[in-house]
Amino acid sequence: TITKIKIGAVGDIEDGEALVVDAEQTGTGEPIAVFHDEGEYFALNDRCSHGEASLADGWIEGGQVECPLHSGKFCLRTGSVLSMPATEDVAAHKVEVEGDEIWLYPG
Ligand code: FES
Repeated sequence: TITKIKIGAVGDIEDGEALVVDAEQTGTGEPIAVFHDEGEYFALNDRCSHGEASLADGWIEGGQVECPLHSGKFCLRTGSVLSMPATEDVAAHKVEVEGDEIWLYPG
């Protein structure tokens, strides 16, 4: 099983941007988005719990991501749903910065 995936170097993901790791690479069966928000990195399942939207394409600010399709909001740290029309949480994953490298721990 996959225990950790190297995402890249600090600086590869701009503040307010996200990168998607394909389902084949995560080993969880789901694509995972890695977000950069003001110097912190977070990972959530990329697919919105409300519909067919990529959260990586959303608006990332203040520890939250807003879905690009219907503006449901999720906590970047926990995946908890924060606003309608989304009603279900999305899975959160651990991300760590080791030296100047960003690592994702899926699952
Ligand atoms: Fe994300 Fe509807 S698809 S809020």
